[in-house]
Amino acid sequence: MTSPLPASASNTAIEVNGLIAYCRPGFEKELAAEIDELAIDAALSGYVRAEPGSAYVVFETCEPTALAGFEDKLDWRRLIFGRQLLPWFRRLDNLPERDRASPIVAAVHESGQRFSGVVLETPDGDIAKQQSGFCRRFADPLTRELEKAGRLRTSRQGLPKLHVLFSGPNQAWLACGFPGRCSPWPMGIARLKMPSNAPSRSTLKLAEAFMTLLSDDERENLLRPGQRAVDLGAAPGGWSWQLAYRGLRVTAIDNGPLRDSVLATGMVEHLHADGFTWRPARPVDWLVCDMVEQPGRIAALIADWIGTGRCRHAIFNLKLPMKQRFKAIEQCRELIRKRLATVGPFDLRLKQLYHDHEEVTAYLTLKR
Ligand SMILES: C[S@@+](CC[C@H](N)C(=O)[O-])C[C@H]1O[C@@H](n2cnc3c(N)ncnc32)[C@H](O)[C@@H]1O
Repeated sequence: MTSPLPASASNTAIEVNGLIAYCRPGFEKELAAEIDELAIDAALSGYVRAEPGSAYVVFETCEPTALAGFEDKLDWRRLIFGRQLLPWFRRLDNLPERDRASPIVAAVHESGQRFSGVVLETPDGDIAKQQSGFCRRFADPLTRELEKAGRLRTSRQGLPKLHVLFSGPNQAWLACGFPGRCSPWPMGIARLKMPSNAPSRSTLKLAEAFMTLLSDDERENLLRPGQRAVDLGAAPGGWSWQLAYRGLRVTAIDNGPLRDSVLATGMVEHLHADGFTWRPARPVDWLVCDMVEQPGRIAALIADWIGTGRCRHAIFNLKLPMKQRFKAIEQCRELIRKRLATVGPFDLRLKQLYHDHEEVTAYLTLKR
């Protein structure tokens, strides 16, 4: 994740027709509610459309709107359920199978906007499986056509990337992806390689949390070899392994067994204890927590660790109920706010990661 772009550098003469955001299939309702709020904050009038299971949500403005008026409000990090957030300017229907490039190039030309590159993507789910081969094959020919039409300036700083979202074989949305404001990963999914000696795929969830919830600078400055960490609910050890892999010394709390590969790092001490009552003798730099419990109990526990100075930073997972997911998140926010009210201002970031299912992952720290 890179730092936000100064507004002046962004080159946004374009008029847009709304916002498009991507999510995990099944979370369109939650994402739509977030987009609605964001649109109000950006003073955009229009309406939101979310088809259940589609993995994307569209906000359509009542009329074409100059992006320069509200672009500062657009930051994908503000969304919990959104993996990506882009202003869109054209929807193309009935794309001819034999020549999808020409209508796209014509629409881009008409927009008057120049782009620094092209990202071809699909919503997550079945369409992704059907269309991913086509997207890979189509990327080069489309790039060449856009270059020929003078719409690409790969060396110009601050220009957006052109995102082409194929929501069906013959339908595409054209959108602008500004560096620093949108997710840097195609489809908003950070594709991480499974390290060969990691004990389980769950290690990727913590790796993704570090990539998504921290900026590049924060990852470099706040997460350092030699630091101490506690992992509550550690077994079989994917998160502990991720911390050890980054050079942190870990106390892993769980009554269940850790895999040998985790203990073999020599960086992890395993204690059989209850994660809700165990406390360290000395403060630690990081607390991570993946215990499967009521989200409110987890939020209260983490706020207490931060509030009493037992850890400086925390990453934790909140398992959501099937219904009223937002309400559960709001209750957690409120618990944290109340516990830290007398301690000081705090920074709470929440995201449903690619590796999260019925859950979200959070980062909490006190503001300094
Ligand atoms: C989803 S797993 C954690 C997976 C782990 N993050 C990994 O990467 O391998 C949840 C773990 O929380 C542990 N757990 C649940 N309640 C606990 C408690 N009160 N104290 C300690 N561990 C607990 C369970 O034993 C289980 O191993």
